[in-house]
Amino acid sequence: MFNFDFYNPTRIVFGKDRLESIDKYVPVDATVLITYGSGSAKKSGLIDKVKAVLGNRKVYEFSGIEPNPCYETLVKAVEIVRSENINFLLAVGGGSVIDGTKFITLASYYKGDSRDLLKYGLAPIPFDVIEKAVPFGTVLTLPATGSEMNSGAVISYEHGKYAVMSELAFPTFSILDPTITFTLPKTQVANGVIDAFVHTTEQYLTFPVDGKVQDRIAEGILQTLIEIGETTVAEPENYDVRANHVWSATLALNGIVGAGVPQDWATHMIGHELTALFGIDHGQTLAIVLPALLEVRREQKRAKLLQYAERVWHIESGSEEEKVDLAIQKTREFFESLGAKTHLSQYGVGADKIPVVIEQLKAHGMIALSETQDITLDISQKILERAV
Ligand code: NZQ
Ligand code: ZN
Repeated sequence: MFNFDFYNPTRIVFGKDRLESIDKYVPVDATVLITYGSGSAKKSGLIDKVKAVLGNRKVYEFSGIEPNPCYETLVKAVEIVRSENINFLLAVGGGSVIDGTKFITLASYYKGDSRDLLKYGLAPIPFDVIEKAVPFGTVLTLPATGSEMNSGAVISYEHGKYAVMSELAFPTFSILDPTITFTLPKTQVANGVIDAFVHTTEQYLTFPVDGKVQDRIAEGILQTLIEIGETTVAEPENYDVRANHVWSATLALNGIVGAGVPQDWATHMIGHELTALFGIDHGQTLAIVLPALLEVRREQKRAKLLQYAERVWHIESGSEEEKVDLAIQKTREFFESLGAKTHLSQYGVGADKIPVVIEQLKAHGMIALSETQDITLDISQKILERAV
């Protein structure tokens, strides 16, 4: 197992009817900015409920944080934070609203051009660049990204999606009430299962380092998602199933699976370009890229793919090749069973578009991806060719 630091200060408030806890964890004298998306939380009455719990605190609202939150939108909220002396942010939404709020919190005390914050990638922004941020909490409405319990964000700017990481971007608390997610459209529920699944595989399907606990946590999350996936899509108000979906998604990317083990974020990095170029939902891009990537990288990942085949899919018989083939096929079929498409061509994107994707990967410095930094642009091209 590799050396690691594990730090996660986010308080999780899980279960039915937990909104009241906001009153406990937002300072009584706070001036609060509630951030949300394009209207689902307003329409469902959630924003009004949150405001009622905030009681006499001074409250402002900032709506319109779009899926794949855009820099240009977020800087408008930064202006409000500064002009109204906001000292607590409350994000009510999915990964996009939470990520956007993380950027707002980091940019609010930053004196320079906040586009600077987009250049650090998966490395944390150094403390001498940002020393302080506005504290924030979240009310999660979409189980997928794990953003509610991690310190990362993904921000869209021009034709790119940029990772932003900072220890100052952990939420102080997150309310995880599965009933709040009942209003989600089926495609978003499916996206959420796929996102959580792929976060887990990207910290598991690499090479063995004898991280026994990490492996078994990963396998537990993957098996849970396989068990509940179809039902959480088909039965939106099945509380017990949705509760397991929510907690799996949070655990998949709160640092616990990836501590001390190799990580391969290539599926995400290639997927981000597909979202930026063609507007395909984040979760859908992962369903397209992961099976193709596993096929291309089967030799490098052989030992863990076999472990995955045996322990997650219970494939006991056949040669090593057959086990790996079947595990990849089952992965693809699982995504399809949720209603997701797993080929680029099903989104109208043909092989002729691959050069543009490669160009963008190059422009964003994505030239040495994977757990061993050996996915060059040529290999990304092979993956994309498989994904068509
Ligand atoms: O904008 P509203 O009206 O809220 O509608 C949203 C949006 O259209 C809707 N929605 C959310 N909760 C709902 C709801 N509709 C009805 N009922 C509810 N309860 O769902 C749509 C998608 O929302 P979004 O927040 O974009 O989805 P998701 O949570 O999948 O977030 C995706 C974003 O997270 C980033 C992705 O790149 C993408 O930008 N990621 C963030 C990560 C992180 N911070 O750790 C890791 C991930 O890998 C991911 O990259
Ligand atoms: Zn993701």
